[in-house]
This record gives sequence, structure tokens and C-alpha cells, in this order.
Amino acid sequence: MDILKKIEMFREEEEKLRWEGSFADYLQLLKEKPWVAQSAHSRVYNMLKDAGITEEKGTKKYEFFCNQLFGLEESLERLVEEYFHPAAKRLDVRKRILLLMGPVSGGKSTLVTMLKRGLEAYSLTDRGSVFAIKGCPMHEDPLHLIPHHLRKDFHEEYGIRIEGNLSPLNMMRLEQEYGGRIEDVLVERIFFSEDKRTGIGTFSPSDPKSQDIADLTGSIDFSTIAEFGSESDPRAYRFDGELNKANRGMMEFQEMLKCDEKFLWHLLSLTQEGNFKAGRFALISADELIVAHTNETEYRSFISNKKNEALHSRIIVMPIPYNLKASQEERIYEKMINESDVSDVHIAPHTLKVAAMFTILTRLKEPKKGDVDLLKKMRLYDGESVEGFNMADVDELKKEYPDEGMSGIDPRYVINRISSTIIRKEVPSINALDVLRSLKDGLDQHPSITAELRERYMNYISLARKEYDNIAKNEVQKAFVYSYEESAKTLMDNYLDNVEAYCNKSKLRDQLTGEEINPDEKLMRSIEEQIGISENAKKAFREEVLIRISAFARKGKRFDYNSHDRLREAIQKKLFADLKDVVKITTSSKTPDEQQLKKINNVVARLIDEHGYNSTSANELLRYVGSLLNR
Ligand SMILES: Nc1ncnc2c1ncn2[C@@H]1O[C@H](COP(=O)(O)OP(=O)(O)OP(=O)(O)O)[C@@H](O)[C@H]1O
Ligand SMILES: [Mg+2]
Repeated sequence: MDILKKIEMFREEEEKLRWEGSFADYLQLLKEKPWVAQSAHSRVYNMLKDAGITEEKGTKKYEFFCNQLFGLEESLERLVEEYFHPAAKRLDVRKRILLLMGPVSGGKSTLVTMLKRGLEAYSLTDRGSVFAIKGCPMHEDPLHLIPHHLRKDFHEEYGIRIEGNLSPLNMMRLEQEYGGRIEDVLVERIFFSEDKRTGIGTFSPSDPKSQDIADLTGSIDFSTIAEFGSESDPRAYRFDGELNKANRGMMEFQEMLKCDEKFLWHLLSLTQEGNFKAGRFALISADELIVAHTNETEYRSFISNKKNEALHSRIIVMPIPYNLKASQEERIYEKMINESDVSDVHIAPHTLKVAAMFTILTRLKEPKKGDVDLLKKMRLYDGESVEGFNMADVDELKKEYPDEGMSGIDPRYVINRISSTIIRKEVPSINALDVLRSLKDGLDQHPSITAELRERYMNYISLARKEYDNIAKNEVQKAFVYSYEESAKTLMDNYLDNVEAYCNKSKLRDQLTGEEINPDEKLMRSIEEQIGISENAKKAFREEVLIRISAFARKGKRFDYNSHDRLREAIQKKLFADLKDVVKITTSSKTPDEQQLKKINNVVARLIDEHGYNSTSANELLRYVGSLLNR
């Protein structure tokens, strides 16, 4: 479908959702759908809940966050269960400003943006629909029209509690436009939209000298004062501050702790009493979620200031630490790369994984338990099984440092290094070594890394490098495996023929010429040496193998490659040793012979077809493993 068609369809959909009616109609609607009168906090919570909740290993997973935030399940569960859930139930926490506190680029803004975009979409659904007094710049809750003395009766009839006073502007409109007839006041369905400044707002502090409180609470409209005669006429006031516009939804308060105090005091009253003061009017009621975010240093200096005590007690702080799972970190990079312009560059398998290992290592704290090292801890945190440890050990490790994840390398740094690798290399393909090198080089330029820290990080780079070496060797061996089973069988048959001839003191027949030849002592020894069989012990070993074969034959069982553990081990080792030579020779030879070339091509093809490489990265891998084996 072309995009114009889609735009048209979307408009039609939206058109269908429109609703307008009198307050009396709205009350009728409330009877059918009482949930539309829910508070802003409750709407946010239901949005999270409606997206689906699953449970994994005792931690709740909110589907809402799943495709954009990775590895933060525990923090998100805490955020929902300790803030959104009780706030939705009108408990006191909803009167607090929600302050997300976490290290740089740990996903705080992403989280807030998801909530905003989520609310916009949710307000298009039936469960998330929102209604407001028509024409009100603050999209005031229509239920504010019900006078205070009738609210108890209303609650009895509808089961809905009303909070807040009718705003001065709507009070005046009620008198002038509707002659005081509440039931006639027009109500409409609204759709949250940050762009249209409906129900979603963002406040970002600028220069405190030039910034006006009007940005938050609106201002006098001087052009209309003459018309309405007085500054206290609500029609001469523009209710277009961020707090006004975000009414019924949410407002993001960026850099809240950097903000001038006078702004914060407005928030104080808004959060505590649910209203704020604007111009020369009575207090204006507002119902909105206020989310701010900050980092730890800023937060610490904020609370250490006695003057901030009152505010502090009105803030709920939710830590959003870094993700500590390597596999999830990998997903973060994948996501960030997909969103960027370099998404068409080939990234060799394991590249992001190795980068993620480094990153996670910088975030973890040294385990106090003696038998766990940092690498094991990383694996355990990622849910891998590590011999000798279980889930209880993981919990214990986590308890050692409840504030883990507040420092270390941030994802943005890694992505920057990856991008610069891509740009510098000028090949549309990068691998783990490129990235590790770039991460290492970048440490020198990183402003917040001390010499001591740098040394520790260098260690983590070499740890990650060692992990990669193992991965790379395995990968190449795996790629040889197609011919492996077959080669193993051939080699074993060959060995057994020779052993038989040796033990029977007979000769072998050359398959090609038919000539009689002596058993190949060199071949047999090259296999036996792999498992440490000495010259003196070789005879006994060979006889033992033959006895085993005849025992198998008597039982009518086939003796094969897996029938003798030590022999199998010897064959395997011999093959890998040969592979090593093959890889070594083929990769280091400037002019590989036909045989070598064929093998190399096969392996490269297999790396490409089955393991996700391209020809550049596959050849780089082979060359690297070749150099490792040459050491
Ligand atoms: N746990 C995570 N899951 C998914 N993406 C993440 C995660 N942590 C960070 N990111 C990604 O890292 C980038 C930076 O994150 P974001 O801007 O949300 O961080 P922030 O906490 O607001 O940082 P700052 O303190 O610098 O404002 C984004 O692209 C974000 O998607
Ligand atoms: Mg941010």
C-alpha cells in the first residue's frame, strides 16, 4: 500500500473515533464506560498493563517496554509496582514527582519517550480514551463541572470520585456561553499528541534569567486585555504553559535538578495539592504525571542541599541502572545500529557480543565471593549456567552490591566507537577486533576516565579479546566440521588397518599399486602421541584396541569412531592438529596449492552460508585464527 493511501486511512480512522456531545451525553457514556473518567496515572498504568505482562524467573516483564528497552526488567518492575500501580489506585505516591535517576545514556529518555508515544497511541483506543470540555485549552476534565456539594451523590451513583475544581476560564464560559446549564456544556473526545500540545508536554530549562514561569503556567495575553478590560479576566490569559497543555496526560521535566527554584515550587504545589497558581486566578487543578530524570551526581548534590528538603520529600526516586546482561547489551547495539545510517554495514558475527562483554565487565563490581571471577559473574547474570553455581548464587551476588550498574561504559560510547570504526575502515564490514581496538583507542579520549580506571578497562579489553579468541577458534573448527565426520572416519579406518597389520606382523596392500607395504609407524604414532601414549606403551594400546574390536564383533556390534573414548579423543586431537596445520598453511601461504585453495573456499563458503559471515569477514576470521594457531 502506498503511503498516501495509508495517511488517508489513518485520517479516516481518526475521524471515526471523534466524539462530541453535551455533558448529559457524556454522563450517559460514563455509565457504559466508567473507565474513561480515570486519572492520568491510572491511564498510564492501564496502558502498561494492557500491553501484556509475562513472568520470567520471578521477574515481571512488561511487553510495553520489550521491543525498545533491554535488560531493565527488574528496574521496570520496580517502577511499575512501586509507582504506577499504587498511583493508579489514587494512593499518595501519585502526588510525587517521578524522578528517574541513572547513569548517562542508560535509557531514561528512551523510557520517558516510550511513555509519551505510548499514551498518544493509547488515547486512540477504547480503553485509553479521554474526554474533555470542548474548547478548553487545558482539556479540562468534564467532571469538574459537577459542583462540590453534589459530588458525593455522583460518587454513589457512578462509583467515580471527582477531584479538582472547575478552572476560572470554564467557570466563566459556563456562565456566559451556557447560561449556567451544566448539562449543555459541550464535551469532546481528545487525542493526546505532543506535536499538537494535547496532554503531552516537555519542559526543558534554559537560561534561568530569560526563562519565564509562563513557560510552565501560561501568561497574560496583552493583546486581549483591552478587549476584556482586566488582567484577572480568564479570557485575557493564555493557558498555554507546559503544565496547562500536559493536563490529563504527562509532562516530561528535563534536567529538573538544574532548574531554577521558582519553577520547582510550582511543581511542589501541583504535585502535592493537584493544583497550581497562574496569574491572578484561583488555583488551577491539574491531573498529570510529571516525570523528570537526572544522574546520580546531580541528585546527590540536590539532596545534600538543605533548602531542597521540602521538594525532596515530594519526589519519588526510581533508579534506572545500566543493563547488566551481555546478551541484552548486544540487542541494544543492534537496535541503535538499525536506527542509524550505518545499518547496511556488515558486522561480523560475535562483534557486538564481544563489545557487550567488555561493556558489561566495566559495569560489574568485583565479586566478594572468593570462587567467582568477573567473567563468571557476567555469565551468571546473563542466565548462563556456570558449573558449580545456581540461581541462589546469582541472587547472592546481586545482593553484594545493590547499587550495581550506576557506572561503567555507556552504550552511546560503544556505538560512537563502532561508527568511527566503520568510517575509518572504509570497508563495508567490521569485526570484533576492529571494535575492540577502537574501544581501546577511545579510552584515551574519554573525558571522564581516570588513569586508574583506564588501566582496569584495558584489562577488560584483553579479557574480552581472550573470549573472542576462543570463539573464533571454535568457529573455524566448526566450519571445518562438514568434512570432519568423514575425515575422522577415514583417519580411524586407516589407523586400525595399520594397527591390525602391526599386531599380526603382516603387511598392508597399497590400494593403488597393489604392492605390499609395512604398517605406517609414523602415522600410528602421530595419533597416539595426541593422548600421551609413550613408545613403550604403544603395543599394549594397539592390542587393547584390537581386543575391543573383536569383542564388538562377537556381540554383532559395529565398532566405530565413537566406540573407544581414548581413541576418539586421539583422532579428534589429531584432526584438529592437522586442521591447525591446514589453517596455518593455507592462511599463511601466499600461493596456496589447489588442494588448499579448495579447502579454504569450502570453509569460507560454509562460514558465509551457515554462520552469517560475508567473504571479507570470513577471510579475516580465517587469517586471524591462522595467526592464533601460529603462536
Ligand atoms: N537498557 C536499554 N535498552 C535499550 N536501549 C538502551 C538501553 N540503555 C540505553 N539504550 C539506548 O542508548 C541510547 C541512549 O539512551 P537514552 O538517551 O535513553 O539515555 P538517558 O538515560 O536519557 O541518557 P542521558 O542521561 O545522557 O540523557 C538510546 O539510543 C537508547 O535507546
Ligand atoms: Mg536523556
